[in-house]
Amino acid sequence: MAKNRRDKPDFFTKKAHKAGYPARSIYKLEEIQERHNLIKQGDNVLDVGAAPGSWTLYTNNELLKGNGSIVAVDLNPLNLSPIPPTVTFFQGDAFSTEIRAKLVELGPYDVIISDAAPMTMGSRTVDTSRSEWLAENVLQLAKEHLKPHGNLVIKIFQGGGQQEILKDMKTVFARAKTTKPKACRSDSFEIFLIGLDKNV
Ligand SMILES: C[S@@+](CC[C@H](N)C(=O)[O-])C[C@H]1O[C@@H](n2cnc3c(N)ncnc32)[C@H](O)[C@@H]1O
Repeated sequence: MAKNRRDKPDFFTKKAHKAGYPARSIYKLEEIQERHNLIKQGDNVLDVGAAPGSWTLYTNNELLKGNGSIVAVDLNPLNLSPIPPTVTFFQGDAFSTEIRAKLVELGPYDVIISDAAPMTMGSRTVDTSRSEWLAENVLQLAKEHLKPHGNLVIKIFQGGGQQEILKDMKTVFARAKTTKPKACRSDSFEIFLIGLDKNV
């Protein structure tokens, strides 16, 4: 029996599974893409916190359509079978010295997308500060390894310093904003920071 509401597949989970995606998160990126046209064919895309693999699969199948490349990284394995040939996957901490060096080697990137989230502990203070740490590290990676005119998406838990990070993004991108896609669960405190058209 389902222990809580999140154990029950909701509308977006059922829709994702029916469409062959491992997670409902696909619809968050789809909405962001439809609004901001971040990713185009031919792009080299870095997907941080990629497992189980919905964002990677959607990017490969619907946006790159085999024309482009994706570097995906996560602490956990991708649940994609097979992993598309355009995808290079690294399992491990994206910000460890070893894995970060591998990500850098395959850059620079046209787009960096990060849905990375810490394992939640149930303490809002701890969870948001870990999310903030991840978001800051993704932004640093983008500052150094995103191409001029490149685009960025970063998930962050609200309360996790998003205003400061957004302010910083406004100095790096022509446009920077926050968005909360409809597919975010109503009880979720996640939001997404979007950076468009990185300054030259
Ligand atoms: C919400 S899930 C991502 C879902 C994914 N976008 C999809 O569509 O399938 C968040 C992921 O962030 C990963 N993550 C958290 N910290 C990380 C880190 N330091 N390095 C790599 N991945 C990390 C977690 O392992 C988890 O799989």
